[in-house]
Amino acid sequence: MSSTLDIMHTTARRLDLAYRAKGHGPTLVLLHAFPFNQDMWEPQLEGLSDVAHVITLDLPGFGASQTTDGDFSLDTMAEIVHDFVRHLGHERVVLGGLSMGGYIALAYARKYPAHLQGLILADTRANADTPEARKRRLEQIQEINQFGLLGLSESMPHKVLTPATAVKRPALLKELGGHIAASNVMAVTGALEAMANRPDAMDVLPGIHVPTLVIVGEGDELTPPTAAQEMVDHLPNGKLVSLPGAGHMSNLEAPEAFNQAVADFMRQFTR
Ligand code: MLT
Repeated sequence: MSSTLDIMHTTARRLDLAYRAKGHGPTLVLLHAFPFNQDMWEPQLEGLSDVAHVITLDLPGFGASQTTDGDFSLDTMAEIVHDFVRHLGHERVVLGGLSMGGYIALAYARKYPAHLQGLILADTRANADTPEARKRRLEQIQEINQFGLLGLSESMPHKVLTPATAVKRPALLKELGGHIAASNVMAVTGALEAMANRPDAMDVLPGIHVPTLVIVGEGDELTPPTAAQEMVDHLPNGKLVSLPGAGHMSNLEAPEAFNQAVADFMRQFTR
């Protein structure tokens, strides 16, 4: 899942950010899940470049991007993404995010509605954490601070892939674990805290008038199909696509069906 395409660098909010770009057409910016990096979008960079100008980036502190001084709030991430997009010369883009990337895309939609051409919310949710989920994240932060990232690197890949994918694609399971183990502890704990503190975004949905594609793996246990349906029910211009055989990382587990849904969606923005 790592791309052969060269990584490029730009500055946003005085941070050095790593990104890749490929293809021609309407601009599609993709935001990765927690605690991964832009490598997860390799099937989309390769598979969607004939319908879109696809841009992926490492969020601050992840992959090859510089880390913030400790502020990982989703609002700050949305501001950095906005700056990044404008530095690359784009006024309005289609913004897509998977899971944590989706939380950031929703924060962006709240702050910068005029700069959105369309939105893709994949394997994500608009609700804030429940008190139990929040408590679990705060416990995870303590565990990581005490014992490092090994525990998360062993447990999380099994949560984000379906059991069938984990058996069929051991290399992917291992690669995801490797990405987590190699992550920056401050970014991982900062992102956990940011997700625990994120506001409920259900109120944002009725104000999103641009076309919005909601994608969910049918076997996603972290952000399940019910959460996706709830978002679509509140979006004025939303469409739901469910992907059989996929869990939380639906873009990696069902790349062809995922790309087909995004390609069909992107064609409406072609001038
Ligand atoms: C993600 O995939 O980004 C995370 O699982 C999101 C979350 O923990 O809520």
